[in-house]
Amino acid sequence: MAAIRKAVGPDFPIIMRVSQWKQQDLTVRLAPTPKEMTDWLLPLVEAGVDVLHCSQRRFWEPEFPELDGENGLNCAGWAKKLTGATTISVGSVGLDGDVLNAFAGKGSKAASVQRLVERMERDEFDLIAVGRALLGDPHWVSKIQSGDHKNLKGFDAAALSALV
Ligand SMILES: Cc1cc2nc3c(=O)[nH]c(=O)nc-3n(C[C@H](O)[C@H](O)[C@H](O)COP(=O)(O)O)c2cc1C
Repeated sequence: MAAIRKAVGPDFPIIMRVSQWKQQDLTVRLAPTPKEMTDWLLPLVEAGVDVLHCSQRRFWEPEFPELDGENGLNCAGWAKKLTGATTISVGSVGLDGDVLNAFAGKGSKAASVQRLVERMERDEFDLIAVGRALLGDPHWVSKIQSGDHKNLKGFDAAALSALV
């Protein structure tokens, strides 16, 4: 990471995608404690990462529920708290099923973004990434912005092979 920072210079933003889990083991945590998460992520931030993009299948799931409960900080929340870096969260925003459904050929219905608004209002993380909801509906952001929630389309797996 230090070499990348050196190569791109001080003004180039470096965003790094990180994941606690694996497709082969959805329950594994690469860092099972905040201390181990700090030991993993802080050296990367100190070497030049500006933004950590923390992978999750469902943004509302707490990373260490044994420490701060079922409504506790998610992965991006802990990454921000432990490193001070700007963080991006992700995972089933606006949909009722996670991304693995899409890879299994299944769709997901539109769902409320209220829980996301609550986490963003308490500054748990800085940005949210939206995957499938946008793949299925390029007008998703403007619909959310204008409060037109009743016309949100959800996600159909056929969108993976179509340009919309
Ligand atoms: C077609 C497709 C391709 C993806 N490719 C990648 C990838 O190459 N690397 C990655 O880290 N995540 C990848 N993802 C995962 C997304 O970055 C994101 O974490 C996931 O779709 C969850 O967000 P969503 O629930 O809003 O869809 C992909 C997702 C989809 C649907």
